Amino acid sequence: MTAEKRALESPETIFSLEEVGVAFGSVVALREVSCVVAKGELVGLVGPSGSGKTTFLRCLNGMVSPSAGAVRVLGLEMGALADASLRDLRARLGFIPQDLGLVPNLRVVQNVVTGRFGKQGFFGALKSSLFPDRGEKGRAFSILKRVGIGEKIFERTDRLSGGQQQRVAVARALYQRPEAILADEPVSSVDPARARDTVSLLTEVAKEEGMTLMMSLHNLELAREFFPRLIGLRGGRVAFDAAADALPAGAFERLYSLSEEELLG
Ligand SMILES: Nc1ncnc2c1ncn2[C@@H]1O[C@H](COP(=O)(O)OP(=O)(O)O)[C@@H](O)[C@H]1O
Ligand SMILES: [Mg+2]
Repeated sequence: MTAEKRALESPETIFSLEEVGVAFGSVVALREVSCVVAKGELVGLVGPSGSGKTTFLRCLNGMVSPSAGAVRVLGLEMGALADASLRDLRARLGFIPQDLGLVPNLRVVQNVVTGRFGKQGFFGALKSSLFPDRGEKGRAFSILKRVGIGEKIFERTDRLSGGQQQRVAVARALYQRPEAILADEPVSSVDPARARDTVSLLTEVAKEEGMTLMMSLHNLELAREFFPRLIGLRGGRVAFDAAADALPAGAFERLYSLSEEELLG
């Protein structure tokens, strides 16, 4: 890492990407992506479909390995981690995938306690997710109350509305007591009012707990309203990385417009 890049890092740095490139065969998903995210920052990741948002977030929890550059998370070099250390690291990050990743026919409480998967190992987590003990249920209940669905604790997850299921996914991430939450378009499948509720809830909880939050989202209005910092991706490159209230005019429009080259194929 160059001296200049190191100078940007501090003990408060949670994520750092340096000239990261990711390729899937001949498809280049990320190119020369560099950025540093500090503890407690709320970062909205925006960009059209295929611009690399999911790949970006997956790099940060080690589900995707870069083909170039370096990713450091919570002070650890991702490329150098053995499987066990990677699992430990993942346990310190809450990940909310685009499809939420809930098990539909389990009860809400069972989905929430699987948030401890990384920490307990597979069999421990399986046991507590199927048969949570009193303490586990108590903690799940207080978190479910925090996200506004305490009364749903013993319902089957697939009986809940889309907005409520998003809250279960948020609760599952919080159950893990993560240092940072990575959320991949968790609000893309519900109506705008429900989406707003969930984004508002997640950003509020992150602020209260001093937790770092990186969320990709399609709704530019919500991005601007709730995230002080916005990173725009286009064609796998960082098109802008700026304070939401200091974005250059037309930045979003340029992100979503096609260039002549792209139009002509
Ligand atoms: N596992 C994969 N295998 C092959 N191509 C992939 C894979 N994941 C993503 N891509 C490609 O990488 C590019 C970026 O995808 P993605 O990160 O999912 O973007 P976004 O989340 O912004 O829609 C796209 O062209 C996509 O088709
Ligand atoms: Mg995506």
